[in-house]
Amino acid sequence: MKLILVKDYQEMSKQAAEYVIEKLLQNPNMKLGLATGGTPIGTYKFLIEDHKRNGTSYQNVKSFNLDEYVGLSATNENSYRYYMDDVFFNHIDIKKKNVHIPSGDAPDIQKECEDYEKVLTKHGRVDLQILGIGNNGHIGFNEPGTSFDSKTHIVNLASSTIRANSRYFESMEEVPTRAVTMGIATIMQSKEILLLVSGESKSKALLKLWENEVDEYFPASVLKKHPAVTVIADEAAYVEWKANNRAFA
Ligand code: GLP
Repeated sequence: MKLILVKDYQEMSKQAAEYVIEKLLQNPNMKLGLATGGTPIGTYKFLIEDHKRNGTSYQNVKSFNLDEYVGLSATNENSYRYYMDDVFFNHIDIKKKNVHIPSGDAPDIQKECEDYEKVLTKHGRVDLQILGIGNNGHIGFNEPGTSFDSKTHIVNLASSTIRANSRYFESMEEVPTRAVTMGIATIMQSKEILLLVSGESKSKALLKLWENEVDEYFPASVLKKHPAVTVIADEAAYVEWKANNRAFA
């Protein structure tokens, strides 16, 4: 894993966007894996700005999102589908038919997982997958203990994740308790991964990612087995590292 340490959230977002744009210019037909949560919002902002200013096009890009809450429809403001349209897709020229996100309100969620995995297999490996990380090391919605062999599946969210994500909802009770997520094996199939880590609340997770063994109880640790992972972290996420007097990687 390669670690790029930057000053703050703004700089992380800018560098991440530049990374994506470079790949996009090299391969305008790329398959782009996308993440939600607070972390990548700044990156999407920079990508939109670049699209408007420089005309970088997404006409031939196919996108694949990591996850979706079970029970939320595309029109629900808290669904990841809504989020993606709102913070990114509605502002670029991606074709809606090229956007792939599991449906949280599919009548048969198990079948939805199988269908999503089939769609991913049909299109071939994702070229670049953007990832965030949960405080407990989750990637996508793969909670601690998820098998590294997992494909797209239904998850019961950890109570710490429900608590952490409640900041996006009006109340804790509104946070769905289940989600559909690409599995760890699905994520690991991507050719390249860009992990974004920002803020002090993620600093323990970042240190753990670096120092812990590869272990299913810290899902992000699997990334150590991937040949092409770049981590962009800001100084706040590095606090714990400094507090433990670790040298910069
Ligand atoms: C969420 C998402 C993840 C995201 C992570 C961190 O639960 N399912 O894909 O990376 O948790 O979210 P945030 O960036 O808001 O801290």
